[in-house]
Amino acid sequence: MLYKRLLAAVFAVVIGAAALAQTKTTVTSPNKNITLNFWLGDNGAPMYEVLYKNKSIMLPSGLGLELKETMTDKVLPSLTNNLTEVASMQISSNTTWKPVWGDVKEIRDNYTQLSVKLSQKTAEAIEFTIVFKVFDDGVGFRYEFAEQKNLKHFIVADEKTEFHLTGNHKAFWIPGDYDSNEFSPNVTSLSEVNGEDPKYAASIFAHQFFDKDAVQTPLMLKSADGLYINIHEAALVNYPAMNLHVDKASFNLTSKLVPDALGNKAYLQTPAKTPWRTIIVSDKATDILASHTILNLNEPSVIKDPSWIKPTKYVGVWWEMHVGKSTWDYAGSQNATNFDTKNLKASGKHGATTANVKRYIDFASKNGLDGVLVEGWNVGWEDWFGQYKENVFDFVTPYPDFDVKELHRYAASKKVKLIMHHETSGSATNYERQMDTAYRFMKANGYDAVKTGYVGHIIPRGEHHDGQWMVNHYVRVAQKTASYKIMLDAHEPVRPTGLSRTYPNWLACEAARGMEFNAWSEGNKPRHETIFPFTRFMGGPMDYTPGIFQLELNYWDKNKKETIHTTLAKQLALYVTICSPLQMAADLPEVYEKKMDAFQFIKDVALDWDDSKYLEAEPGEYITEARKAKGTNNWFVGAITNENARTATVDLSFLDAGKKYTATIYADADDADFEKNPAAYKISKQVVDSKMILSLKLARGGGCAISITPVK
Ligand code: NOJ
Ligand code: CA
Repeated sequence: MLYKRLLAAVFAVVIGAAALAQTKTTVTSPNKNITLNFWLGDNGAPMYEVLYKNKSIMLPSGLGLELKETMTDKVLPSLTNNLTEVASMQISSNTTWKPVWGDVKEIRDNYTQLSVKLSQKTAEAIEFTIVFKVFDDGVGFRYEFAEQKNLKHFIVADEKTEFHLTGNHKAFWIPGDYDSNEFSPNVTSLSEVNGEDPKYAASIFAHQFFDKDAVQTPLMLKSADGLYINIHEAALVNYPAMNLHVDKASFNLTSKLVPDALGNKAYLQTPAKTPWRTIIVSDKATDILASHTILNLNEPSVIKDPSWIKPTKYVGVWWEMHVGKSTWDYAGSQNATNFDTKNLKASGKHGATTANVKRYIDFASKNGLDGVLVEGWNVGWEDWFGQYKENVFDFVTPYPDFDVKELHRYAASKKVKLIMHHETSGSATNYERQMDTAYRFMKANGYDAVKTGYVGHIIPRGEHHDGQWMVNHYVRVAQKTASYKIMLDAHEPVRPTGLSRTYPNWLACEAARGMEFNAWSEGNKPRHETIFPFTRFMGGPMDYTPGIFQLELNYWDKNKKETIHTTLAKQLALYVTICSPLQMAADLPEVYEKKMDAFQFIKDVALDWDDSKYLEAEPGEYITEARKAKGTNNWFVGAITNENARTATVDLSFLDAGKKYTATIYADADDADFEKNPAAYKISKQVVDSKMILSLKLARGGGCAISITPVK
């Protein structure tokens, strides 16, 4: 039941702000763990600080923005000082809501809110409000501009939000960048951050560093005294993404917004609001994973009847191209940058053929999977990449060996959904022109989910993946797909900020370094997947594409040196530790067919949950989680480790007392090791109950997956 309670409303009109400068307004979280103070400091500069259990976690930190006029480009008086407080108000709210899908069936949204209305002291003063929401596990705040006489259209030239940390925390970071978030996460102290050092930033094709001392969010931090702090943002709409510049002397982090082609950050018109800046904090790492604060700061779903939105497990004509067994392009050059596209001849290596897709449909149908993704089905892959070419794909013209009508018929007869692929090659202008036609084509041919992609330089030229123009583009795609009842999975977009609450058809994003990097780069480190739940996943689900069983890739080509830096059992555990309503079984049918006993876990594991228990976790080290499948009494457990072997502990007290369950345990074999023997696994069954505690041995780079079902 949704209920709202107004606990207190204090409205104070402050006259003579000068007299009150330095007077702090205090807001505490409902459980009193978190305290936020706001005040106007020297020279009328807005300041805040945050304490967790009476310990400072944000030292006095500055707030504010720099604006310009749109017509003249004239710099307006700064919103970082010379301000006076016009009014302030505190309210409390405690409600619950039900996500369309997610890690739990109901989410509590409980906070104390402080709104402070500020005005410039100058003539023609601009007014704005800083709104703080203080939750039991964190803080969100944003800037709001009401309609007003002295401000209508304006440019955000800069945002001056600071996060002044208390020390040289351990940081889980990727380099600040305007375009890419596909870097390997680094683990160093803040003073060691250096995005220009090749050891911290392996090369990525389309990216743009701007400051070697900058990092992206979600930024995960751990203080020397054991506090876990996460900094990110929520509800990123009509504004660029925020990076953070790290001052290595003071550990003061300052917002750096991604600019547009003219160097401006955002174009706004009153009434306007910025995204929320978020700080999530706890002395327990597992609390960070369990936080719903970012979702709570997003707007409720705009989709009134979400019955068409279906969590989806899928296979795809995909990994076979990444490992080089087949190609996206018909001509089979895999050249992609300047191939002669006249007189194309089939090479025999094209992956998206009618016959090959049928093979995947058969496998999906036989094993109860929902969908089949097909990449490389449409004309254009011979010359799509890296040349700033605006019109590459039209999203409706298949290659001659891909029979759209026949596959529509065949998939429907097998009760499997085909998943469309739209690689935009970064040309968002072209995609915007084609979208309606492309989505109508999809609906006419039985598709109701699309994977988009933004590989390469962005067009409009000069724009960036994470700037305001593209942020608006991704949201337009979410809205338009929703209007066609199409589910969305975006690759290479800006990193998520909880917008899947508002647009639950937006099932997942990539927006980080996914499985694909294991196929053709130095790959992802064993600790990789123990970091992501604390960083990238804070904003929403990732289409990471787990489930690789053939872990040594010279199987596909004897010259290939790449290997996956996990064991097979860990690949299974990822279906639990990566919480997403969209999960791929990324390997090939012929690989799975050799290990159907292990594949059983992928068949069984759920995609949507009534409850989740974050049992033990340390970023970069290990994670153990249990989740209860939606509408059932079945539980799934995932435990993963980094390069160190260890024992995971699963206290089964979450099970119903007095009931017996069968646990099927997919574990690393005794001699498993991600480097020496990654594919060695063992499967055992055991009757368990709520009084038991399981000890699971995880190999180096290993993991364990368990499915738990009530004994009939
Ligand atoms: C990058 C995407 O992440 C990947 O999944 C896709 O296969 C390629 N682009 C080609 O579009
Ligand atoms: Ca990608």
